[in-house]
Amino acid sequence: MRRAALAGPLLAVAGLAQAADPPADLENGRAVARTWCAQCHAVERGESQRADGVPTFTGLANDPRNTSDRLRAFLTQPHGRMPDLSLSRQNRDDVIGYLLSLRDGRAGPTEPKPRRP
Ligand code: HEC
Repeated sequence: MRRAALAGPLLAVAGLAQAADPPADLENGRAVARTWCAQCHAVERGESQRADGVPTFTGLANDPRNTSDRLRAFLTQPHGRMPDLSLSRQNRDDVIGYLLSLRDGRAGPTEPKPRRP
């Protein structure tokens, strides 16, 4: 009896926690980046540039022009010598979410939130 009474409130709390999740799946975004972008781009935080003229994801993330809307528009077209990836909408949004998570001061998918002094 006690248990049944507890289940309702607990489920409500679990629901709230889920609603607070970021819209993009950062782990999937990172996997997409490793599979589809890493042959040209440095996709990990702080990784140094792989090839001349190919921006790093950290650099792109820190360019204030790169809003998710701009990146989404950019990624609907192939670029550079990038093969036509035809990313699914979900994968595209996740890779954008991952890229933007590399912006300085933001916590990445596996890193703990930076501590404020
Ligand atoms: C075959 C190589 C190649 C692959 C694969 C590739 N890129 Fe690029 N990317 C480039 C080059 C070269 C540039 C710089 C020149 C340009 O913008 O066309 C670039 C530029 C960019 C830019 C900057 C656009 C701007 O003008 O601000 C973004 C964002 C980007 N790439 C995202 C991605 C993502 C996300 C993926 C994986 C889904 C990816 N790229 C895969 C070669 C590649």
